[in-house]
This record gives sequence, C-alpha cells and structure tokens, in this order.
Amino acid sequence: MAGVEKLRFYPATMRSGSGARLTDLDGRDYVDLTATWTAAGLGYGHPRVAAAVADALGGQPGSGLSIMHENAVLLAERLLELVPGAEDRRVYLGHAGSDACDVALRCARAATGKRGVVAFQHSYHGGFGLAQSVSGVLVEGGATPDPHAVFVPYPNPFRPHRGTVEESVVDSLSQVEEALKGGDVAVIAVEPILSDGGFIVPPQGFLSRLAELARAYDTLLMVDEVKMGLARPGRMHAYDSDGIAPDIVCFGKSLGGGLPIGAAVGPAWVFDGPAASALLTMAGNSVCAAAALAVLDELAENDYPARAALLGEHFIDGLRNLQDGNGLQGGRSARYIGDVRGRGLCIGLELVLDRESNDVAPDMTRKVVYRMWQLGVTVFSVGENVLEITPPLVITSEDIDQAVTVIDQAICDVADGYVTDDDVAPYSGW
Ligand SMILES: Cc1ncc(COP(=O)(O)O)c(C=O)c1O
Repeated sequence: MAGVEKLRFYPATMRSGSGARLTDLDGRDYVDLTATWTAAGLGYGHPRVAAAVADALGGQPGSGLSIMHENAVLLAERLLELVPGAEDRRVYLGHAGSDACDVALRCARAATGKRGVVAFQHSYHGGFGLAQSVSGVLVEGGATPDPHAVFVPYPNPFRPHRGTVEESVVDSLSQVEEALKGGDVAVIAVEPILSDGGFIVPPQGFLSRLAELARAYDTLLMVDEVKMGLARPGRMHAYDSDGIAPDIVCFGKSLGGGLPIGAAVGPAWVFDGPAASALLTMAGNSVCAAAALAVLDELAENDYPARAALLGEHFIDGLRNLQDGNGLQGGRSARYIGDVRGRGLCIGLELVLDRESNDVAPDMTRKVVYRMWQLGVTVFSVGENVLEITPPLVITSEDIDQAVTVIDQAICDVADGYVTDDDVAPYSGW
C-alpha cells in the first residue's frame, strides 16, 4: 500500500467484521471503537445494508448519474427531508466526504463570486482540493493553504485559548466577524464537533452564534457532518444540539454503511452551476445509493439517535468513573485522564501527564492506543493526546464495559513501561 494513504497505529490486519467486532487473520477478536473513523456507523456487515447492496448489484441500472436511476433520486429526496430548508435545494452525490466538502466549497465560491473561506484551526474537511487547503490539520502539517482561507481558533472548553471559555468563544467569533467584514467571504466551513483536530465539543450556543454571524453578513454556513453526523451524537445531526439550520450540510462516511458515498445538500443557486463542473463517473451509482438508503431506513426505523444517546451516556459514565479513581487497577489511571467529553457515541478521552498540570501526553497516547490493540480493543487517536471513541452504533453495553476495563488497564500498563518507543515507532499515527 502506498505510503500516502497510510495512517496506522498498530500492525493489525483484519479478515472480517461483524457488528462492533473485528477479527484478524489469526482469528483473534477485537471490540472496535473506531467504526473505521465512523464510516461503519451501523457496524460491519449489517444485514440490511448487505441485502440492499446485493439486490442493487444484481441489476444495476447503469453505473453513474448520466443516465438517471431511481436509487439516486430516492436518496436525494431522503437527504432533502433530513435537511429541511425553505428554498429550492439540490443534492450533490459523490464518493466521499472529501469531494462532498470540496464541491460544496467550490460551488459556494462560484455562486457568490466571493473567494474567501473562513475555516477553523485544526479542522479537517478532506484530503484534496479546496477541502484540503482549508483543512487546518493538513495545512498545519504542511499542505498548501488556500490563499483566501482564514483560519480561526475553535473554542475548546478544556483548554480555552483566552482566559475563560466564554472569552474564547467571543474571541473566535470576533475573528470570524473580522474576516466577514472584508465582504469577500463566500462561506464559513465548520465541524459541529472538531474531530480529527482533537475531538473538541464546542460550548453550547457557539454554533448558533456562528450561524447568526453568517446571516448578518450574508455569508453561507457549511456544516460538515461527514464524521459526526447521522445519529452518532444522539441526534440525527450534530448541529441539532444548537438548533441551527445551515445553508449547506455535507455527509459521508457512515452514509454508505461501509461503501463509498458522500453528499452535500444546499441551495439550488449554489449547487446548480457551473454545470458539469464536478463530474465523477461513478458518483451516485445505484449500488452505493442503495446502501445509503438502507442506512437511512435503518437509522430512522430503529431510532439510532436514542440508542447512541443512551449508550454514549453509559460509556461516558464508565470513563468518568475511571477519572474519579474507581478503575480496577487501583484507580491508578485517574491521574492521566485529563478530560472525558462527548455527545452520544462521539467521545473524546484526553490523556495528560498529570492532572495538576494537564500537560498533554502524546507519547503515552500513542502507546495506550497500541496497548489497547494488544489487549483486544481497536481505537484511534486524534490531536496530540485524545482517544477518539466512536464505536459502531450497534455496540452493546457489555462491549462498552469491556472497552472501559481495557482502557484502564492499557493506561496503567503504559505507565508501567509495557510498551517501548521501538514498539510504536513504525505506527506513529498522524
Ligand atoms: C469532518 C470531516 N470531513 C470530511 C472528511 C473527509 O472524508 P473522507 O476521508 O471520507 O473523504 C473527514 C475525514 O476524516 C472528516 O473527518
């Protein structure tokens, strides 16, 4: 596999998956807390998705959108229902979150005739094009920033960049406003929970204040739900927690139930032109569209938002119990758990050197992720020191309890020196 597509944390190779479990080549079972960066929202091998895909694959009405087919139209209609809006709207269907965000940003620029994009530091919107060049994480890592992008701080309740949380929110919003005052900003791009950049859950009200600013300055607001959206935060959309109505919403990852598909929903005046400027031959193909329809049916009929809310609370309770010093390893992990935060099954656990300083513990984080894999739980990390806990929504409370026990043990084992620098050197993650 080409190095350019490697982001690895441990030497795992899986043979199969079922629900929230993965099985490696040696037949060893893992509880999965990644959902593959949330792509497997409904878990691995969901029967409803598998049946829909088999059916669509057996009689494909073409393999793209130049000859229209029913599944694409049905999916577009479902997405319009999911993202209500007053004006005439359109749906872009693509292959992933990256192109959904890229096309949305490009269309916003073309339609408004404005060049600027307000984005957030440590944000992630995609691996190429404009989506990449307004992604704080990638630009900070060496990608070329878009010359018209302005990056502002995302308010972090655990580590406010100004004196208090409220002062940080005010500062972020005033930096946004400063950029908008110039009059050349086409769109504000925001993640409703900043995930790859450190799993930051913004203070309540931040998104609605951002939406007010966008409205006041007649600028489009694009909310990137690619990673956190579709039931995982305990609501269908992560932005619902602030009750906003974004102009543009982007989807990806879990939408396809493991198959590649992404979507952007927004005003017709934004997405209708320039005609044929975002052509990917197989975008919107009937097989991936069938998978997405099955995912949306399953999420709605079985109230996955409620399930995610309930299980998320159980998970967070278990982690806070460790933080309070009640872990089975004599409470020793508590010293390293700086913060536990989240909504539903979007959970971040921040590891620190100690609770007095709250200094970040990147070395420990790499090793804890590795040790957890050794102990039978797959997880990824984001930012410098945050475990990203985003299991498939079908995870059981028993699996959650096992994962909490393993997190506790892994932290203590790493503190005791079980994992060496050499062990993790080839798998340094981001
Ligand atoms: C918030 C967000 N937007 C967009 C993307 C891009 O999605 P993909 O990698 O599936 O193209 C990602 C991927 O991590 C993401 O986290």
